[in-house]
Amino acid sequence: MKKDVDEHAERFDELAATYDESSGDQYMECLRLVVEHADPRGDDTVLDLGCGTGAVALSLADGAGRVVGRDVSEGMLSKARQKASDRGLSNVEFGEGSFREPNYDGEATIVTSNFALHHLDDDAKRDAIDVMAGYDPRRIVLGDVMLFGLPDPEAPFYDPEVDDPATVGVLVEAFTDAGYAVTAVERVHPQVGVIVAERR
Ligand SMILES: C[S@@+](CC[C@H](N)C(=O)[O-])C[C@H]1O[C@@H](n2cnc3c(N)ncnc32)[C@H](O)[C@@H]1O
Repeated sequence: MKKDVDEHAERFDELAATYDESSGDQYMECLRLVVEHADPRGDDTVLDLGCGTGAVALSLADGAGRVVGRDVSEGMLSKARQKASDRGLSNVEFGEGSFREPNYDGEATIVTSNFALHHLDDDAKRDAIDVMAGYDPRRIVLGDVMLFGLPDPEAPFYDPEVDDPATVGVLVEAFTDAGYAVTAVERVHPQVGVIVAERR
């Protein structure tokens, strides 16, 4: 792990005020695909890990029964709560929780995560995927920085100082080992993608 959880939380606390203004095309496409593939029904509870300012959670609120967002940055969570309140959403709840310890013991029939898991090293990513699978959701949708080939050292999409993306192969294997079948892999960019995993 390039930075520990507290360092990531501190960094995102500082970024929270301007985070929503800094979205690039690949991020927006990844977000769109995560929302499209999550596709919750009215009886689903969605758990969104690394929820940030609520991009995924708030987009899913209309379709889902309930959405629970978890993040380590109070600054990002505070923005997410403000946006939920501004939109009059009453079925979305945001709270402190990490990939390792989401601090949520209710049901989750769908788990999502967008642009957050790449902050963890590969062993911690595997542990996080096991934690997601531990909720026994019918579907897990992961959008993230992930490597479809060797990263181009001249044009890295990510910042090696703070990001530690896995190969798509490592992620697919982790979902498979956790008892899930990978049903779709969407390549947004050679270093950005979305993986959809369904319970076997
Ligand atoms: C790039 S933002 C993405 C936020 C949101 N998912 C989105 O799509 O806009 C990454 C988020 O991951 C959170 N994060 C970093 N490490 C984490 C961890 N170990 N557990 C939970 N969240 C974490 C950060 O606080 C930050 O809000």
